[in-house]
Amino acid sequence: MDSIVIEGGVPLRGAIQIHGAKNAALLLQCAALLAPGVSTLRHVPRLADVRTMNRLLRHLGCTVEGEETLTLDTTKVADGPLAAPYELVKTMRASVTVMGPLLGRYGRARVSLPGGCAIGARPIDQHLKGLAALGAQIELDHGYVVARCKRLRGASVVFDKVTVGGTQNVMMAAALAEGTTVLENAAREPEVQELAVVLNKMGARIRGAGTAVVEIEGVDTLHPVDHAILPDRIEAGTYAVAAAITGGDVFLRDAPVDHMHAVLAKLEEAGVQLAVEAGGLRVRGPDRLDPVDVSTRPHPGFPTDMQAQFMVLASCAHGRSVITETIFENRYMHVPELLRMGADITVNGPTAVVRGPTRYLGTTVMATDLRASASLVLAGLVAEGRTEILRVYHLDRGYEAVERQLAPLGARITRYHDARA
Ligand code: EPZ
Repeated sequence: MDSIVIEGGVPLRGAIQIHGAKNAALLLQCAALLAPGVSTLRHVPRLADVRTMNRLLRHLGCTVEGEETLTLDTTKVADGPLAAPYELVKTMRASVTVMGPLLGRYGRARVSLPGGCAIGARPIDQHLKGLAALGAQIELDHGYVVARCKRLRGASVVFDKVTVGGTQNVMMAAALAEGTTVLENAAREPEVQELAVVLNKMGARIRGAGTAVVEIEGVDTLHPVDHAILPDRIEAGTYAVAAAITGGDVFLRDAPVDHMHAVLAKLEEAGVQLAVEAGGLRVRGPDRLDPVDVSTRPHPGFPTDMQAQFMVLASCAHGRSVITETIFENRYMHVPELLRMGADITVNGPTAVVRGPTRYLGTTVMATDLRASASLVLAGLVAEGRTEILRVYHLDRGYEAVERQLAPLGARITRYHDARA
């Protein structure tokens, strides 16, 4: 297992290229299943999760080639297992979003229940509620969801809670249903909007994506697509925090500022200087950061995927910040490791009170989940001395080559490949 070592204390200066959005790429890989033939995705980030999804698509019978430009040929899927096995689904929960396309196009799917993960139980009851509303017969069989239907029929679905994956899974299934589907209390994330844009490029008829009510008029067939994926708002937000806390001056090339309003507003509230320039966002860290209160919410609120990163920013600010996590029940796994580096954070249920400024001291820490590992990199960038982060495979799920992104900006960051792994 690889580790990363950082000698902190360097203000970051320079430019970072923001990659295609992980949480759009994974869903567009699934959407390719809806059409016969070869789809092409561009600006695909080189991430472990993307490679895991490619493994699943190959297991389903797809021919998948390329990396940053990905071609997906679904010709042979009909003869495949139409099943997503436990060993792949447990590795990456997003695998469950092959269910909608498989049901919509083939009328059959056998997908392992994802089980929990580090940040919470993460059930899929809303996915199944929506697919059942469209007429799928759904049974649970030894840890697998077995779903089948003749042809899905359009229906009205009101989600009991806002779910990004649930909205996307049902949207993809409804695209090939007979009749019209209306999703209410739908997720409004940019990645949901991006999926609707791509499905419409494939011939679907979807209106309202990005709002809480999405209407999908089913069609008989969809055709392959060639699409360049939108930039990653969470990668951009993470590196914006890196610039802010190191007192740096960083240009985030292609940062999707239109999808980052909640994060940018909080950065400005903390005293960070932002300038939207041609082709990206310039971020300058102030001499003194001010405390900010943050409560995670579905989009367009403050994203839960930026909570861990903002906790480090809050710990560098002069004063008391209150962070509330409202989306996941266990998304403070980064706190014990930050405490070991010297942070002053008190967690009480969904709320964390952060006091700063923290004099972070480098030590050995362990990554536990994707965004927690990003927060450890951020703390390492400002810590005195050497920080060694273990199990960075968590980081590699969602960030392409962090050390290659940060080293050119002056960061003293090195990856060590553990031959024992
Ligand atoms: C997506 O996960 C993202 N992943 C997550 O990003 C992100 O944190 C999350 O949305 C929230 O924004 C991808 O897009 C691949 P949800 P998803 O369904 O779809 C509960 C990252 O770091 N829920 O919106 O799985 C669920 O337990 C990852 O990039 C149900 O109760 O999230 C959670 O508490 C982490 N029943 C809440 O809703 C359901 O049927 C939001 O989950 C579905 C979800």
